[in-house]
Amino acid sequence: MRSHRRNSLWYLPGRLYDLAFGRMFRGLRKRVAAEVERGGLYPWLDICCGTGSQMRGRGAQTRGHVPKVRVPDPVPNNLALGLDLSFGFIRYAAARAPRVPFVCGDAARLPFKDRSMRSVSISFGLHDKSPELRRGMMTEVRRTLAPGGRLIAVDFEPPWDARSRIGALFAHAIERLAGGEHYRNGREFVRHGGLSAFLRESGFVEVSRHGIATGAIGVVVARPTV
Ligand SMILES: C[S@@+](CC[C@H](N)C(=O)[O-])C[C@H]1O[C@@H](n2cnc3c(N)ncnc32)[C@H](O)[C@@H]1O
Repeated sequence: MRSHRRNSLWYLPGRLYDLAFGRMFRGLRKRVAAEVERGGLYPWLDICCGTGSQMRGRGAQTRGHVPKVRVPDPVPNNLALGLDLSFGFIRYAAARAPRVPFVCGDAARLPFKDRSMRSVSISFGLHDKSPELRRGMMTEVRRTLAPGGRLIAVDFEPPWDARSRIGALFAHAIERLAGGEHYRNGREFVRHGGLSAFLRESGFVEVSRHGIATGAIGVVVARPTV
């Protein structure tokens, strides 16, 4: 069991992804978590969670600040969980954050009940998908969000000022490395108006937004239109 975890910890694509983006996305992860905390938006589901870095330090681990002190069981509503289609990433994510539940599954066919989540987050998990898959995912997000629930989405936007134009060039260079369908879908996504246009067309209304110029990234909290 222990060696199984050790092997999963050394899953190379996970290690490389974290090495490349772990530090770069740290502020962004904190911002997403802060949105959930502020609104008490649990249960919280992170879809297309990849290496699960968004959820690290979550679950029972957050109470690890008081080692050796017995704490009551978590209130079920504190539940934070991740989902990804890649079994390799899920195993790696679970090995890095053993107290967080990670589910291997399709974001376009979420294995959760209607209205069971108070928040769903997705970071960089839209631009790389085909338009059909994106649409399917948003249908599922709407279905699983409870009344008053929020979608917290992080993804690329068309540049909005001089700094974000430079940021967009940087993002473009990284996306080129991903190549193939990922790259083509991403180009189409931004050309079509990026995250804000996509959310609008998917029936979501923005509640708040933060722009990160270095990368031309939007962090958007949104609610479904009724
Ligand atoms: C660009 S990565 C983003 C990872 C992570 N959210 C982050 O911010 O670093 C996109 C992720 O989407 C996952 N993915 C692709 N198709 C999926 C699907 N149908 N359902 C769930 N996850 C999917 C991939 O395995 C990959 O981990």
